[in-house]
Amino acid sequence: MTDELTPTTQPSQVSPSAPLNRPIVIAANRLPVMRDDNTESGWTASPGGLVRALLPMLRSSGGTWVGWTGEPDDNAEPFSVDGVDLHPVPISAEEVLLYYEGVSNDGLWPLYHDALRESTYDSLQWNAYRNVNERFASTLADIAPANAIVWIHDYHLQLVPAILRRLRPDLTIGFFLHIPFPPYELFSRLPWRNEIIEGLLGCDLVGFQRPMGAANFAACAQQLLEVEEHNGVIKLPTHHASVGVFPISIDFAEVEEMAAGRATRKLTSQIRARLGDPEVILLGVDRLDYTKGIGLRLRAFDALLESGEIDPERCVMVQVATPTREAVEHYQDERREIEQLVGEINGRFSRIGLPVIHYLYQTLSYDELIALYRAGDVMLVTPFRDGMNLVAKEYAAAHIDGDGVLVLSEFAGAADELTDAVLVNPHDDRALQRAIVTAVEMHRHERRQRMSGLRQQVQRMDVQGWADRFLANLVAPNSRS
Ligand code: F6P
Repeated sequence: MTDELTPTTQPSQVSPSAPLNRPIVIAANRLPVMRDDNTESGWTASPGGLVRALLPMLRSSGGTWVGWTGEPDDNAEPFSVDGVDLHPVPISAEEVLLYYEGVSNDGLWPLYHDALRESTYDSLQWNAYRNVNERFASTLADIAPANAIVWIHDYHLQLVPAILRRLRPDLTIGFFLHIPFPPYELFSRLPWRNEIIEGLLGCDLVGFQRPMGAANFAACAQQLLEVEEHNGVIKLPTHHASVGVFPISIDFAEVEEMAAGRATRKLTSQIRARLGDPEVILLGVDRLDYTKGIGLRLRAFDALLESGEIDPERCVMVQVATPTREAVEHYQDERREIEQLVGEINGRFSRIGLPVIHYLYQTLSYDELIALYRAGDVMLVTPFRDGMNLVAKEYAAAHIDGDGVLVLSEFAGAADELTDAVLVNPHDDRALQRAIVTAVEMHRHERRQRMSGLRQQVQRMDVQGWADRFLANLVAPNSRS
């Protein structure tokens, strides 16, 4: 997906999804495009992996996407992008505060990520979350063709499945959670824990990134609602809800093609030259989120420069930190901490005209990111906790030269599949430093062997396969009553 998107106001007919021959409707908090006054069309691609993963799938199968334009109080009419019909759901300025910044990103997000930060639990916010979920459900009920498949995404919309089932029992309803699902010990802190489980159990199939997420959900359902789960199926009076594991992926062929393009090659060499043609470029690409462990890797880099294990004349680090959820205080704190660290490290180890860390608090285009991935000799993906982390997969897909090393946290979902990465527990500061040195010093033969393993894995399990597997399981007879 490039960032060039040209919306048209003419929605096409909802078309059947290719392999299933049934209409498909996606619902996610964000539409794949958001308003942007700085572009000619007034729209730009929405941030994050969810959109990048889902749009290619919907483009090839045809269908409708229900979501928010990213602008408060936006009553945009339906329109289409790349053959996908987009159906905006309006969200008021107050709801942005309560439903999006509040419950979703200051309540559920930290709790679902190991309670890395304190969560806010506020019943006023919860009412807004419920109202927005009801709005999504009634929009879906209005527009979904008879017998359609509705696939709902992520933690913002966990109440939608049950409300939608009441409104439209003819639909087949799936839900995929892109982030981790926490253990009962954490989930049970939520004042609205039963409502969330009931909401998700409105599905025919609930999908998770990792086996642990699925197991945690099943355990919470059994504990809180006294339902029984057998072989991944929960039998309810109205229907059977299945629980499954579907690790999300990327469009491998698209990334590979972009990486091979002449423009990318040119940009990659420009990036290397602008960085002073160092021997090793260490790279981090993340939303500026406290779950991503950006501070951990900066501190590890700092310690290695200090001890002399890394030579600032040989190595530079590039850290792209994409602005995200800037109104939420935990994010503001995180930004301050990271920028202070970058300043301190650069102050001590940079030379005139040659900073040791190049820090970009910016949203780069996908083309620029792919060129950066190609330029990166060592990719650092060190989250404390991450549902999947598609950056790790994109890095492997972009390395068509067969070289490059991925340092990957065990706490990212991607670690289950990408076993050819240098896997590390990022909480262990010495282990993280050792992993970075191992990656920097790795012999070419081993680098190539590992990269080949990474690339094969991502190619084998790409995003189309992910969507096909989820949808095939969703319509499989054992998940229906
Ligand atoms: O990782 C969770 C997630 O919701 C992604 O699915 C999404 O791409 C990203 O966060 C973007 O977050 P936001 O919509 O808050 O900008």
